[in-house]
Amino acid sequence: MNKNYLILLIFVLILTLAGCNIMNPGEPQRPQSDAGSDSLNDTGQALLIPVLLEDTDPEVGRAEFTLRVQSGTTQIIGEQPTPSLGYNGSYLGPAIKLTRGDEVRMHVTNELGETTSVHWHGLEVEGTADGGPHQVIAAGESWNPTFTVNQPAASLWFHPHVIGTTAIQVYYGLAGLLLIEDENSKTLGLPDDYGINDIPLVLQDRSFNQDGSFFYATNMMDGAFGDYILVNGDIAPYLEVSQVKMRFRVVNGANARNFYLELADRSAFYQIASDGGLLEEPVLTQALFISPGERAEIIVDFSKYKEGDVVELISDNALVMTFRIGGASEDNTVVPERLAEIERLDERLAIGTKTIELDGMGHMVTLNGRKFDMHRIDDNVTLGDIEIWEITTTGAMMMGSPGHPFHIHGTQFQILSRDGQEPASNEQGWKDTVFVRANETVRIIVRFNYAGIFMYHCHILEHEEAGMMGQLEVVNPFVN
Ligand code: C2O
Ligand code: CU
Ligand code: CU
Repeated sequence: MNKNYLILLIFVLILTLAGCNIMNPGEPQRPQSDAGSDSLNDTGQALLIPVLLEDTDPEVGRAEFTLRVQSGTTQIIGEQPTPSLGYNGSYLGPAIKLTRGDEVRMHVTNELGETTSVHWHGLEVEGTADGGPHQVIAAGESWNPTFTVNQPAASLWFHPHVIGTTAIQVYYGLAGLLLIEDENSKTLGLPDDYGINDIPLVLQDRSFNQDGSFFYATNMMDGAFGDYILVNGDIAPYLEVSQVKMRFRVVNGANARNFYLELADRSAFYQIASDGGLLEEPVLTQALFISPGERAEIIVDFSKYKEGDVVELISDNALVMTFRIGGASEDNTVVPERLAEIERLDERLAIGTKTIELDGMGHMVTLNGRKFDMHRIDDNVTLGDIEIWEITTTGAMMMGSPGHPFHIHGTQFQILSRDGQEPASNEQGWKDTVFVRANETVRIIVRFNYAGIFMYHCHILEHEEAGMMGQLEVVNPFVN
């Protein structure tokens, strides 16, 4: 027996004898609750908060993270655990926090018995670091992309992007958070104490078989819809909150479902950020529509409630989660009137207009009349170019489906108009995914700042999988 192995064995033995629970450090934390919950007719568990992944590079301005893509089982419903996938754990993944300017080294190890990839959704990086279908990680292999963060503070996320298995790998649990901070976001006074008053909410929907395993219906007409809404991997969880302002980073991580979030008492809240960062000003609203792939940051002020109140977050009248109001507590956070300066992309500088037609339903979906082909580049773009994209859907072929969430990799864009109308104020910030309703034309303006091959597609993952995707190549004319 090898000596190191022996030492390890003894170490494990000592830990076991000492009664230590050798926990996976990547597992999400469930905040300990001392409040008696029996009085509430709520079967949900305390909201799981994804752990912040440790940055193993001690130097300021540099960051290094390790992700392991794993399979396991997760207790989600009933008595039997659900076979599932996760990053550094059995379901979902950690939150990676980056600061603008950081030079980042990522290490991703694929411990699955099948290929995967890790796409940084919303991150502006070279095509080779994007993690799309051209950066597949074979079973047992590693991928070590490097990049420098150069975009405003934002809530991004990551998930697999392999041709043929993206949708099912996401369904089984592969999704994590990528949070970017910058000088501006740090000095605004917003709630930003991660896990305390700054909480990610990954929304998904899932169906289950009798034995607890996921039921993934691949033949759904418009993508896989689940019978249960999950938040951070649990059905209808609760979160205990003090009477303070809370910031929630909402990620629609569902394969196909749109959410229409409201507080059940119709209280207003602020939306402060869209996909690519802070809005210029907070938008006071009573509802948040969010389609697959999109993110929004909201601030709910719980100071008007009293101890013991229960506030429900709902979507189309279905329970998403509950907030249990605790005691009053000091709150030094603010929602400033001005959140960020957003550079407006100038329409007069655009070199032209491209049309994107999203068509069909089920497996019959197409983008500009054809299906995705890994060996075909659909568009060529010169580095730094600004383009206008006119995205349309053909309603006649959609059979009541509300629309398609359209996403572009490797950049953030701005919405110019919806059917000729100025977009709503919460859609005037940076976006990487825009919901295009049936029979609607959405005009966006986009600049490509990084070279390489990037996907654009419908973020209903079953549509993407069925071919509603194209790829563009951004070429740097000064390099060949
Ligand atoms: Cu969320 Cu092609 O990505
Ligand atoms: Cu993406
Ligand atoms: Cu679609």
